Amino acid sequence: MNNFIIIGCQWGDEGKGKIVDLLAEEADFIVRFQGGSNAGHTVVINNKTTILHQIPSGILHRGKKCIIGNGVVIDPFTLIKEIEELKSQGYQVTEDNLVISHFVNIVMPYHKIIDKLRESRMGDSKIGTTGRGIGPTYEDKIARRGIRLVDLLDANKFNEKLSGIIDEKNFYLEKKLGAEALDKEEIFSSYLGYAQKIKNYAGDVSTIINTAVRKGNTILFEGAQGTYLDIDYGTYPYVTSSNTLAGAACTGSGIGPNRIEGVIGIAKAYTTRVGGGPMPTEIKDDLGDRIRESGGEYGATTGRPRRCGWFDAVQTKYACMLNGMESLVLTKLDVLSGIEKININIAYKNGKEFTDQIPAGPKNWYEYRPVYEEMDGWNEDIAGIKKFQDLPENAKKYIYRLEELTESKIIMISVGASRTQTIIRENPWNR
Ligand code: GDP
Ligand code: IMO
Ligand code: MG
Repeated sequence: MNNFIIIGCQWGDEGKGKIVDLLAEEADFIVRFQGGSNAGHTVVINNKTTILHQIPSGILHRGKKCIIGNGVVIDPFTLIKEIEELKSQGYQVTEDNLVISHFVNIVMPYHKIIDKLRESRMGDSKIGTTGRGIGPTYEDKIARRGIRLVDLLDANKFNEKLSGIIDEKNFYLEKKLGAEALDKEEIFSSYLGYAQKIKNYAGDVSTIINTAVRKGNTILFEGAQGTYLDIDYGTYPYVTSSNTLAGAACTGSGIGPNRIEGVIGIAKAYTTRVGGGPMPTEIKDDLGDRIRESGGEYGATTGRPRRCGWFDAVQTKYACMLNGMESLVLTKLDVLSGIEKININIAYKNGKEFTDQIPAGPKNWYEYRPVYEEMDGWNEDIAGIKKFQDLPENAKKYIYRLEELTESKIIMISVGASRTQTIIRENPWNR
């Protein structure tokens, strides 16, 4: 394949950053197409950890072009910080290797304040957002009152747009959320300053990508979040505010579906979720805590503890259908070492009835109980294993069973956070 899309199969944090970094070795272009600084993609190279939020996880490779597509929402303040941090660590970030679509919507200060205040007023029913202003920014995008990078680059246009928006925002902030009104001039001047710093990165992303396709360049599309955080197919309303499915790669970067050659899913060997919402296989006892600790399951963006549970094969199989994927990368298998019995969810129980269908709505998501198949675990530390045949027999059996249940081939297995801790059964670039 010359290009393919990487998608999380669960509720995010599947290890997309690690796998994108690894596969970026053979990619000419790495493209983010949705989400924003709510994402936290971790890459570990030679024991050094880098967390990418808005910049594609290919940036740590020299000579690769990283693209931020129009479907992404950009917080210029944190983007500049991210660029400066990368530069200070010796990585190259210039207009030669980073291009941001003119059409990205910009996260404004009121978006972040609204996001946080709304959440704090929702009490127990809060979504548990990352507080990065993602929902309010996408809201304005869809309502056609968003500020886009192209607006920011034209001071008069920006002034006009901001003047037209700020009164309504301040009314809402003061009257509804009990917050202080924001000073328009302050926002204007600080954002003009940000614009100066990022203007050289702005470009026509669609033309760049389509030209690359025509030339036969290799392209990796890097999804953020995961299938069950999708605004349509996720556990609504406990979702993010963008489409996270593979289809979003096309609309989020200006490329036709017929140009895409494949989709690869990333699934953790168990399940995690951060924030509120249903999670049928959540383990609420000590074992859940043990997995959290051994897997380092704390949010890469917010530091919040992640909820941990068993692998949900019904959920992952459905994710494969939604995204059109037949190949999976299984991550964090090493974290299951030492657990005597491992469960896999193979169906749901709804009262007395069994179903292998995904719950239809939030009520069902909460009511459905998992139906587990128990497998024997393994004790060996597998973090250093490089070949599939060297894995303990029970680990291999677990993988074979997941392949059967999800009707997908597990082409790569990750056994540690580092680039080198990966068992490759099939290199997707060679397909
Ligand atoms: P992403 O959002 O999908 O990129 O995933 P995150 O970076 O938020 O979370 C994945 C976490 O697991 C990070 O801390 C990674 O360094 C780590 N990680 C990735 N793959 C493995 C693995 O196979 N084993 C272990 N133990 N950690 C891993
Ligand atoms: P990556 O790309 C895990 C979750 C939040 C919350 C919900 C809505 O690192 O996998 P938002 O701030 O987007 O409005 O929050 O979505 N969420 C993520 N969970 N990984 C992510 O990204 C996430 N991005 C958002 O925790 O439940
Ligand atoms: Mg993450």
